Amino acid sequence: MSLKDKLIPEKLPRHVAVIMDGNGRWAKKKGNQRIFGHRNGVKAVRETVEAAAEMKIDYLTLYAFSTENWNRPKIEVNALMSLLVSSIHNEISTLNKNNIRLLAVGDLEKLPSKVRKELNWAIEQTSVNNGLSLVLALSYSGRWEIINAVNQILNDVKNGKIDIGEIDYSVFNSYLVTAKIPDPELLIRTSGEYRISNFLLWQIAYTELYFTEVLWPDFRKEEFYKALYDFQNRERRFGKISEQL
Ligand code: FPP
Repeated sequence: MSLKDKLIPEKLPRHVAVIMDGNGRWAKKKGNQRIFGHRNGVKAVRETVEAAAEMKIDYLTLYAFSTENWNRPKIEVNALMSLLVSSIHNEISTLNKNNIRLLAVGDLEKLPSKVRKELNWAIEQTSVNNGLSLVLALSYSGRWEIINAVNQILNDVKNGKIDIGEIDYSVFNSYLVTAKIPDPELLIRTSGEYRISNFLLWQIAYTELYFTEVLWPDFRKEEFYKALYDFQNRERRFGKISEQL
């Protein structure tokens, strides 16, 4: 029996974020180059997107390339960029068939123009879809996003667009690149690492964290259901006590 049958639709998260980790180790274990792991990671991306769409989850955010990933050897960065272009290109018809809208967050200006072009094209081609929103975090980090928001606020204060006294939680939130996306209720990290690695730092204040030993290329639908099932059995108190819920 699949855990899918035990999932209760009303208790599913609206937004799931994923730190896809372990591609390199997966490849090494098989005596292969790191890029072999990334290529096989695409299969896991496909399965996860499909599972999220089937479960009628509204947002799925994938940490596909961090600000810090630019520091990897050039050959790996280039291979990851090519893989992104080909994956986006190959998946566009599947995204449309499944009513999935593609979005991207991050310092997108830093991406090579070929990636930006493919990405913008896919975002435009899927913009009318109203099923799952698949958010790719690219050249993204939580600290970058926060500093970026601060700089934009300072600029708007300087230009008289907003008053210093006006800056509260919701004004600050509106300057984030994820402003239009609800905070994730569930964050999954694969590969047995227990850290956040600069992902969605502001947004995960009350997010449930789920860690699994499974390396990303081995992540399949059933692993995703396992995370959702675990989430359903958590008590989310948001600072209150059980009896108040
Ligand atoms: C982390 O594993 C993975 C990445 C930095 C890249 C993730 C990219 C993909 C899964 C492929 C393309 C994505 C899309 C959205 C089509 P790692 O290299 O850090 O593994 P390690 O910790 O074992 O070294």
